[in-house]
Amino acid sequence: MITHQFEVLVVGAGGAGLMAGLYASRAAKTAIITKLYPTRSHTGTAQGGIGAALGSQEEDHPEWHTYDTVKGSDYLGDQDAIEFMCNEAVPAVYELEHMGLPFDRTPDGKISQRPFGGHTNNVTGKPVRRACHAADRTGHMILQTLYQQCIKNNVTFFDEFQAVDLLMVNGAAAGVVAIELATGEMHVFHAKAVIFATGGHGRIWEITSNAYAFTGDGPSMVMRRGLPLEDMEFFQFHPTGIYKLGILITEGVRGEGGVLINGKGERFMPKYAPHVKDLASRDVVSRAIYTEIREGRGVNGQNYVYLDARPESIMKYAAEDGRTNPDGTPYKITAEELLKKLPDIVDFNRVYLGIDPMTQMMPIQPTAHYTMGGIPTNKFGEVVIDDKNTVHPGLYAAGECACVSVHGANRLGTNSLLDLIVFGKHAGLRAAEYANQADFEKLPDDPTAEARAQFDGLRNGSGKENAFDISREMKKVMFDEVGIYRSGTVMESAIDKVLELKERFKHVRVSDTGKIFNTELLNGWELGNMLDVAELVAVCALNRTESRGGHTREDYPNRDDKNWLKHTLAWSKNGKIEIGYKPVIITKYQPKERVY
Ligand code: FUM
Repeated sequence: MITHQFEVLVVGAGGAGLMAGLYASRAAKTAIITKLYPTRSHTGTAQGGIGAALGSQEEDHPEWHTYDTVKGSDYLGDQDAIEFMCNEAVPAVYELEHMGLPFDRTPDGKISQRPFGGHTNNVTGKPVRRACHAADRTGHMILQTLYQQCIKNNVTFFDEFQAVDLLMVNGAAAGVVAIELATGEMHVFHAKAVIFATGGHGRIWEITSNAYAFTGDGPSMVMRRGLPLEDMEFFQFHPTGIYKLGILITEGVRGEGGVLINGKGERFMPKYAPHVKDLASRDVVSRAIYTEIREGRGVNGQNYVYLDARPESIMKYAAEDGRTNPDGTPYKITAEELLKKLPDIVDFNRVYLGIDPMTQMMPIQPTAHYTMGGIPTNKFGEVVIDDKNTVHPGLYAAGECACVSVHGANRLGTNSLLDLIVFGKHAGLRAAEYANQADFEKLPDDPTAEARAQFDGLRNGSGKENAFDISREMKKVMFDEVGIYRSGTVMESAIDKVLELKERFKHVRVSDTGKIFNTELLNGWELGNMLDVAELVAVCALNRTESRGGHTREDYPNRDDKNWLKHTLAWSKNGKIEIGYKPVIITKYQPKERVY
């Protein structure tokens, strides 16, 4: 057992982890451990932009951004935190610019902004240019920029170290146990403050935009330590994933004027969102696509529709919509301009599908994309553990694994990059402040005991079951039965299936007995996390008998503010899930019907 000691330990090196590490390192001895090489983190796949009301090209205000986010969340987001995030967005983007992030520019040198779903001019109700972008590689650029800043600031990195247990002593976080992938050795990272920035759990669904790494590790570790998770029923399906593959096709395509077309060649979004059409919030667009498919208007009777971004189509529909440039002239775009703004999208289509989006329509279907729920925190990244928001000493979370809650029941596009920058920073600041006044807790004699027990289970199972089969069956049942459309009886059977898979998981035995890069063993451990999270998602979804944001119950089709304007808290206790609630923080905006 190898032991390290740092004042602040960050787990995860995506945007939230790097931002947290950067800010913590300015005041405390800080390390980041990550199961990937940092610049391979999932933030790198975020494409279309980071939201901030800069008003580079047209009038915009943080207050409009706040309102849009509250409305997008279907009124489940905590309004104090949303206002905080949207106000911080503007300086946060300029800070990234000053760190060297190569944002696209307007002709007069300002940061270029594009429209995105649910972001509007609050006076006209029309889409507003709020997404600050670096082509369609915004997340990739954020990762590169922040990694360089961390290196410059002497943050210590432990790359390819997989955290497998959270250590708690005297009710405070005291470090983590991690496995070094290259050697299989267990390391103990003793810390005064631990920040989880471990990302989401989108791999529990069959069709997903999420990286293989997104297996819910952080929330699972926290749950195993007896702490609650918040709003786990709320998961976002992004409207446009490549058909069957799930790879993200950025909403920026629709921001640049692309439209959705059904199998009959009709543009269908005006029917569902007459004001903002293809730029409605994601829950609305994903449901609309599924409705078209279910009513027989998929392409060739299949589970997909088209995204049309051919320049002549964009201009035709822009003219129909009366879309203009910021100077009031009719909106126009050329293939050359699109290639500059969406190079990766064009490449993905060419590489994966052999089609050219400049001359052909793209086959798309909604893809599991983003976790609105997670480890409950306040706006300073401090983990909170009950309905009174009691802070848990020494433990912090930021980014997709956390639930602040700024996204409520449905996140607006571009707000995830914003969330991880703003709350990553504050988690880092708070953790360093805490570490500066706290002592190291004394660790138990063998801090690795519980982690070892989990891995021994995987090495010594009966071998009757195969992890890959269990994983495949879990993804299918979650996608088919706890996906965009949900209903009670179907979810009851999904829960039974997940419980059956959890039983079968106990009989898995990994065949690789080696230590060096034993990915079979680590993937087996991740599958255990995914099963725990899948059960929690399904149980919380069954429990919430209303429809709100990304959670659509066919048996309870209406939002029910009287009974359900509240956050879910869920604990795993003795193998059973217990559910409680906490109030939503409402400051300025009383819930009303959402119209897009
Ligand atoms: O569509 C996109 O580019 C995704 C952005 C996001 O999830 O915020």
